[in-house]
Amino acid sequence: MLMSAQQKINNDQSFAHAKGSSANQTPESITIRPRHLHFDVKEDLATLWHSGDAFKTAFFNALSLQFPRGERHFIDSVRNYRDRVKDPALQENIRGFIGQEGLHSKEHEAYNEALAQRGYDLDAIDKRFSAHMDYVYSKRNHLRLAGTCAAEHYTAVLAHGLLNNPDWLHGASPRMQALWRWHAIEEIEHKSVAFDVYQSEIGIHKVRFIVFFVVTYNFFKYTFLNTCSMLKTEGKLWSLKTWLKGLNYLWGKPGVIRKCLPQLLKYLRRDFHPWQLDERQDLKKWSQHLEETGYGT
Ligand SMILES: [Fe+2]
Ligand SMILES: [Fe+2]
Repeated sequence: MLMSAQQKINNDQSFAHAKGSSANQTPESITIRPRHLHFDVKEDLATLWHSGDAFKTAFFNALSLQFPRGERHFIDSVRNYRDRVKDPALQENIRGFIGQEGLHSKEHEAYNEALAQRGYDLDAIDKRFSAHMDYVYSKRNHLRLAGTCAAEHYTAVLAHGLLNNPDWLHGASPRMQALWRWHAIEEIEHKSVAFDVYQSEIGIHKVRFIVFFVVTYNFFKYTFLNTCSMLKTEGKLWSLKTWLKGLNYLWGKPGVIRKCLPQLLKYLRRDFHPWQLDERQDLKKWSQHLEETGYGT
C-alpha cells in the first residue's frame, strides 16, 4: 500500500528519534527519481552566460566538463556492489541514483558539446580528463566506491550552497540557473546512496578518509586546469583583474569555496552521514520553484 506524505514524514521523525540525533540513511519521504528534463542551453553557452563574467562562466563550465565521465564512473562504482545490497530501500535508492546520474551525464554531454561553439579546445580538455578517469578505473572496486562517496559529497555540498546562496548564480541567464538548480536538487536527493552502499558493504573509515584527500586534490586540479583552458581562449588567462575577481568569488564574497569548507570537512568524521544535514525543506522549496519556472522540458 502507498504511504501518504504525512505518514512518511512521521516515519522519518520516529526513525530519527530511534537512532538519536543523527540520521543514517536517506529519509523515507525522499523519493529518488530522475525528472527527465532537458534544458536547451545552446544559445546561452555560446556566450559568457554567467553575468558576462569570464571567470564565473569558466568555473561552472569547468565543473560541467567533468560530469559526463565522472558521473558514469559514479554509476559503475555503485553497480559493482549492487547485487550484494540486501536492504530493499537501499536497492530502490540505487535505482533512482543510477537514473538521475545517467540523465545528468547525458545533459552535461549536450552542454559540453555546445561549449565548442565558443571555440574552446574541448579535445585537449577531454583527453586530459579521460587519462585521469582511465587511472581511476584501474583502481580496486572499494577504492573507486570510496572515491565516488567523496566526489558525491563535493557535489552535494556545492549543491547545498547553490540553493542556499542565490547570489552564486545572480546575473546568470535564467535557463542556466534552472539547469544548475535541477542538478543541485537531484544531487541532494541522492547524496547518501553511494555512501550507504559503502557503509553497508565496506565501511572502512580509514579508506574513506584517505581517499577524500585524493579526490579533493583531483577535484581542484581539474577544475583549475579546465578553468585556465577556457580563460586562455577568452584571452583572460593572464588578466590579473579576472583572477582577482575570480578569487573573490570563490574565497571572498560570495565565497563559494569558503562557504563550502566547514560542511566539506565534516566528511572526515567517523560518524558522518550526509543526511545529518537535513535538506528536506530546501528540496521542497526548489523543486516547486523548478516546476513554476518551467525552463526544463
Ligand atoms: Fe549528478
Ligand atoms: Fe551525484
